[in-house]
Amino acid sequence: MVRDRDRSPEETAVDPAAEARRLEHDFDPVRPGETFTSAHEEFAELRPRCPLARSQEYGGFWAALGYDEVLSVITDIEHFTTSRQNAVPAFAFTGVRPPLHLDPPEHMAYRRVINQFFIPPRMRALEPRVRAVAVRLLEPLLEQRTVDVCKQYAHVFPAHVFAEFFNLAPETSEEIKRVSGTYVDAIQVLDHATVKSLSGRLYEIAQEIIDARTGGAFDPADDLTAALLAARYEGGPLPAPMVLGCVRQLIVTGMVAPSVFTGTMFVHLSRDPELQDLLRAQPHRIPAAVEEFLRLYSPYRGMARTAREDVVLSGELVRQHDPIALVYTSANRDEKVFPDGDSFVLDRPNIDRHISFGRGTHSCPGAPLARMMMRLTLEEFLARSSSFRVTEEPEMAVWAEWGTRSVPLEIIAG
Ligand code: HEM
Repeated sequence: MVRDRDRSPEETAVDPAAEARRLEHDFDPVRPGETFTSAHEEFAELRPRCPLARSQEYGGFWAALGYDEVLSVITDIEHFTTSRQNAVPAFAFTGVRPPLHLDPPEHMAYRRVINQFFIPPRMRALEPRVRAVAVRLLEPLLEQRTVDVCKQYAHVFPAHVFAEFFNLAPETSEEIKRVSGTYVDAIQVLDHATVKSLSGRLYEIAQEIIDARTGGAFDPADDLTAALLAARYEGGPLPAPMVLGCVRQLIVTGMVAPSVFTGTMFVHLSRDPELQDLLRAQPHRIPAAVEEFLRLYSPYRGMARTAREDVVLSGELVRQHDPIALVYTSANRDEKVFPDGDSFVLDRPNIDRHISFGRGTHSCPGAPLARMMMRLTLEEFLARSSSFRVTEEPEMAVWAEWGTRSVPLEIIAG
């Protein structure tokens, strides 16, 4: 727990140094020219001297860079909320989107329903369909010598998986794939007008998904949207606008991270041919490799909480309504928790402490599906290739994600 027991907010509030601190600018989240290593280098330099960094971008925000700082914020629902600002920059233009935008106890009404759809028996039943999607998309790519594994696979795969997971018609899946792909790109380049208009379209698609289920055509036991419509909270159904927001959040939240994360595994493996060969020879070690990739290349750095009241955290005065970005990308390399944190260590002894999927109330319900998607991608790609290498410098996503947008590969078929 990093909250400062020695200094109360009242003591710090009258301290001019605390006020001056709020005007400092430790780092610039939108600095151009990011490379595959630059953000991690900057976080490694900042972490020891300001684990809770300050930036004046986006109207001013705190950035929790240290592992303890991130963990303290996400596990302290008494002092920090997601209901005000839950991302830096604030990108939600319309409506409340459960579960992320709600605090307990209301939050649990949605999570109870969602969680059931990610339990192990359901994941096992879904796996053959997810594998079939991966094979269908990868096979034509592997016939080409050069591909962009982000643009031609990572940006497409999640939408097809979602069609399977959400029982969607092929045409709906095609549209989600197209709209969300452009939406993810627009978020990454901070194109507010496009994000706003595509967000509206994604709401319409979410509504169409709901409408298709209102006649009872889908069994709530087998369909997440139907289950949300059938759920009860405080004696009545979940409010219609909230169910809409929830479906809208699910179809997009789960698209973004896999889209930017997948390419990072390929960059790493290109630069480490021995690991490539090891995983080809011993595919049972792929889940452990995926886990270490998730730690090393955590894709979220702009998810956020807002302080409910003045609070002192790591010696800094965080004012009521200040947003704090949860820089999972940095926290998971904190040397205090992960020795040699910048290196890939297969079977790292404390790998279960990584927080790539968050922790506590809002921890990622989709983690089992995300892990499966990454494992199946590597299993199928490695089995069908004898080697691959990156041919150009990867193009990077920008804050609020960390990861790749373009990874050109040369592949030697297996
Ligand atoms: C590599 C893949 C993924 C990563 C790294 C990831 C990471 C995360 C993280 C860190 C959070 C917590 C955010 C916070 O603390 O504010 C989160 C929440 C969430 N994720 Fe994921 N996620 C991934 C894939 C998915 C998938 C595939 C789905 C859905 C199918 C999904 C659905 C969600 C939802 C609905 C929430 C909000 C949970 C809540 O507020 O209770 N995610 N994710």
